[in-house]
Amino acid sequence: MATTITLKRTGDKVPRSECAEIVYKALKAGYRLLDGAGDYGNEIEAGEGLARAIKEGIVKREDVFITSKLWNTFHEKQRAKDIARHQLELWGIDYFDLYLIHFPISLEYVEPSAKYPPEWWGLDGAPHPTKVPIQETWTAMEELADEGIAKNIGVSNFQGSILIDLFRYARIEPQVLQVELHPYLTQESLVALSKTLGIAVTAYSSLGPQSWLELGMHTKTPGLLTHDTVTSIAKTHSRSSAQILLRWAVQQGLAVIPKSSNHDRLLQNLQVTDFSLSEEETKALSALNINYRLNDPQTIHPALGIFA
Ligand code: A2P
Repeated sequence: MATTITLKRTGDKVPRSECAEIVYKALKAGYRLLDGAGDYGNEIEAGEGLARAIKEGIVKREDVFITSKLWNTFHEKQRAKDIARHQLELWGIDYFDLYLIHFPISLEYVEPSAKYPPEWWGLDGAPHPTKVPIQETWTAMEELADEGIAKNIGVSNFQGSILIDLFRYARIEPQVLQVELHPYLTQESLVALSKTLGIAVTAYSSLGPQSWLELGMHTKTPGLLTHDTVTSIAKTHSRSSAQILLRWAVQQGLAVIPKSSNHDRLLQNLQVTDFSLSEEETKALSALNINYRLNDPQTIHPALGIFA
């Protein structure tokens, strides 16, 4: 096992060893939801952090809500079922609380022994879309739910049309939709649709471009943490910009999953339930919407235009 994780597209290295420590410290600080994915390449380390917290009596397995995601190269029914079990083994647990289809994109299978996680590209360095229908993948997800491998199942990065289609055949309806959502991309119509369908929405990239800067991406987009509208509301409440952005999402009934590798920021990000934004403040933040999407696979290849 390599001791670093290579970040997509930039090739930057992140020490894997930090991940176990961060997960352990987060659980100690009161975090109870861990949002993982095969694609994040840190399931063993996240599992180690969890195991340490359980061993020390900080949490029991049932106190923690663990999410993982099915990667694009495993959409064929049997492959989906096999990799979900393998991911559980990597984590060292026997069920996921939530398992999501990561993207409505199927890519050619890559043997895990050759490359895991396989990311967006085949071994030849090019992306290879395949023709596995989401219905086939969803049937696998339903069977994983039947077998108790995943207590809940859901989807990520799905838009209206494909979500509505999923409901036409789903025997078990998706319980969660995880999507990019922040004041630059407020997604009101998708949230309204999800409400109608009875799906809970989890927002990712709540702090806007911040996490992408580390990847050397979206460096020219004005950040949300330093945006005047955000900083002036932060000042009014004597809170940080990050707390204002998280509160804006939470107050809409969204779940949030901000990542931080810094302990003070981890603690700060938990403190968003003891104050409220006024209606004007909420509106001012929502008015920043410019439909600016940070995570669009079409930047990798035109054929991956799921948001087109
Ligand atoms: P760091 O890990 O150094 O704290 P994501 O959008 O994927 O959840 O990532 C959040 C990004 O914002 C990360 O780059 C993280 O960096 C940073 N971050 C998290 N919490 C805060 C905070 N309270 N204030 C400023 N930056 C934050």
